[in-house]
Amino acid sequence: MAMLITGGAGFIGSNFVHYMLQHHPEHPIVNFDALTYAGNLESLRDIEDHPSYRFVKGDITNPDDVERAMQLGVDIILNFAAESHVDRSIMDPGVFAKTNVLGTQVLLDAARRHGVKKYLQVSTDEVYGTLSPSDPAFTEQTPLAPNSPYSASKAGADLMVRAYHETFGLPVNITRCSNNYGPYHFPEKLFPLMILNALEDKPLPVYGDGLQVRDWLHVSDHCRGIYLVAEKGVPGEVYNIGGNNERANIDVVKTILQILGKPESLIQHVKDRPGHDRRYAIDATKIRRELGWEPKYTFDTGILETVTWYLANEKWWSAVRSGSYMEYYEAQYKDRVKA
Ligand code: NAD
Ligand code: DAU
Repeated sequence: MAMLITGGAGFIGSNFVHYMLQHHPEHPIVNFDALTYAGNLESLRDIEDHPSYRFVKGDITNPDDVERAMQLGVDIILNFAAESHVDRSIMDPGVFAKTNVLGTQVLLDAARRHGVKKYLQVSTDEVYGTLSPSDPAFTEQTPLAPNSPYSASKAGADLMVRAYHETFGLPVNITRCSNNYGPYHFPEKLFPLMILNALEDKPLPVYGDGLQVRDWLHVSDHCRGIYLVAEKGVPGEVYNIGGNNERANIDVVKTILQILGKPESLIQHVKDRPGHDRRYAIDATKIRRELGWEPKYTFDTGILETVTWYLANEKWWSAVRSGSYMEYYEAQYKDRVKA
């Protein structure tokens, strides 16, 4: 089964490429990525010469680029490519609508044209909106109620995927996963940002009271779930993926400080994110029961391993944080005065 993996130079995409080449090298892979600020071929340096792997630079919103990749022979499309950071979607929503909605529709057209065996959309729990502390976790039946430009664009993409199944009979699946953490995570996101700031004794900017809750899953558990859905998911179905690891942000930050032996005085409560979702929690009963998926990591083993990875991979993250990242950091945090 030849796979087109879009966004394979990003955080989850690059972990998925590694996962596939390690566990299922029989599937030829084309990694199709525009190499935006979030795409990094250094994350794939160790496998770039693997006989089952090939990289094609291209933009999912450009039908000609996509067609060029499809000509290589594709049985399954897995769409990881997206603008993925909520804070950036608040600064500049337009590119989120373009990449996440239009890009998905361009890929769906290519999938139809070439009669692929499966189109898998990597989506997010954020499309369900937010939960109060007493609400039950999101199931696949929870209505979509996105609150940020990012999550609205992901919900729009999900609806387009659904429509191509209903209207054209395209064999699709959608996976909706909770927050990932692990290696090759771009340092604009909570986990790597806090690890790297703590290592350098810089303030750790916690939004608002820090009591917002996320449901953390190690990225390799997510990748295994995606592969299972691609292989065995019933066409037209949505599968939630999550590990029952709800944690308040402030507790995640304190755990990172503890592992690194750094003081809690580094924590700085700053102005909250507008429209900040209070709590996410995933009910993953369906994928567990129907496809036999189980997470392998506990939060304690995963967080320790992740902090250790950043300690061992300074070359990777120091290159990522040069240049335009520092400009983004300055623009994002300069007005977030102490709360
Ligand atoms: P990321 O931002 O790290 O990577 C996105 C990748 O997509 C980059 O390599 C980038 O170059 C590429 N890309 C962006 N625009 C493109 C375009 N127009 N054409 C081709 N490539 C393009 O994102 P991530 O965290 O790895 O997320 C991957 C997917 O998983 C996204 O769809 C995201 O919505 C979803 N998701 C993420 C999480 C999470 O916790 N990170 C959780 C659930 C779902
Ligand atoms: O739930 C899945 C989603 O998880 C994915 O769809 C998104 O692509 C991914 O970015 C992630 O979204 P979040 O907004 O939850 O992740 P982020 O790492 O940006 O923030 C996690 C929490 O930490 C959130 O409540 C905001 C808070 N935060 C984040 C940053 C960057 C802070 O308190 N301070 C920060 O500096």
